[in-house]
Amino acid sequence: MAYQYFPGHMTKALRSMKEDIKLIDLVIEVVDARIPQSSRNPEVDALSTGKKRIIVLNKSDLSDPSVNKLWAEHFRQNGMIVIEADSKKPATLKNFEETVNTACVEKIERDRKRGIKNRPVRCMVIGIPNVGKSTFINTVSKKSGAKTGNKPGVTRGKQWIALGKTIELLDTPGILWPKFEDEKTGLNLALIGSMNDEILDISELCCKVLEFFKNENPSLLKQRYGDDLDTELDPPAMLIKIASKRNVITKGNEPDINRMSSIIMEEFRSGKIGRVSLERP
Ligand code: G4P
Repeated sequence: MAYQYFPGHMTKALRSMKEDIKLIDLVIEVVDARIPQSSRNPEVDALSTGKKRIIVLNKSDLSDPSVNKLWAEHFRQNGMIVIEADSKKPATLKNFEETVNTACVEKIERDRKRGIKNRPVRCMVIGIPNVGKSTFINTVSKKSGAKTGNKPGVTRGKQWIALGKTIELLDTPGILWPKFEDEKTGLNLALIGSMNDEILDISELCCKVLEFFKNENPSLLKQRYGDDLDTELDPPAMLIKIASKRNVITKGNEPDINRMSSIIMEEFRSGKIGRVSLERP
C-alpha cells in the first residue's frame, strides 16, 4: 500500500511560513495525541529556532491517558510547554491565554521596560491537516472565524485572529511531509484518517487496526464486537466474522468487507472501540 501524499501547495505553505515566522513570538504546534510524532511536521523544529514553543496534544480524549502523560513529559524535556486538549471541549483550554502569557513573560517584560504598551504576543498556529487546528483556534478564540471541515488537506488560507488585546494568532495552512521517510508514519496518519481514504485500501487499513487491538488490547474488541469474537483469528478472518455478526452483507449474501471496514474505521477513529495511542515516546 502506498501512503505517500503530497499536494503541491504544501511546499508553498512552508515557504510562506518561513517568511511569517519573523513576526512571531511563540509557535503553537497542534498534534494528534494518538500519534504525536507521526502528526508532527519535521520542518517545524528548524523553523521555530529561537521561538517559545507550545505543543497542543489535541484529541487527547481519544488517546490513552497514561500515554498522554509520557508524551507530555517527553515534550517538556525538549523545552516545550504542553497542553493536553480536547478542542471540542472549551474547558480543556480555559487556561490557554494564561499559558501564552506565561510563556512570553520575558517579551512582555522587555516591552514594558522599553515603554511599549499593548503590543500583543504574536503566535503562529501550525499543524498538519486534520489534527484539529481549526477547532482549536475556534475554541480559544470563542468565535466561529476559522472554519472547520471534515476533509484532510483543505485547511483554509492565512488569517490573524485577535484574542482580546494581548494575543494574536496567525492561522497557517496545514502542511504535511513532502515525503514520508518511513512507512510507519504514513500508516499512522492513514489509520487516524489524516489522508483521504479514497486513495487507500480501506480493508487493509482495517486489518491493521484489528491487528493493533489483537496485540495490544483484545478485550476492547470483545467489548465492541461481542464476547464470542475469537480475537486469536487473523485480522482478515476476524473482519469476516464481525461483518457476519453485524449482518453487514452484500446483495449476494456474502460478508461486505469494504462496508464493514469503513464502519470499523469510523468506530476506531471516533474512539468508540476505546482510547488508544498508536505511538509512545
Ligand atoms: P484541521 O483544521 O486541523 O484540519 O482539523 P479540524 O479542526 O477541521 O478538525 C478535524 C476533525 O477533528 C473534526 O471532525 C473535528 O471536530 C475533530 N476534532 C478536532 N479537535 C478534536 C478533539 O480535541 N477531540 C476530538 N474527539 N475531535 C476533535 P469532523 O468529524 O471532521 O468534523 P465535525 O463533524 O466534528 O465538525
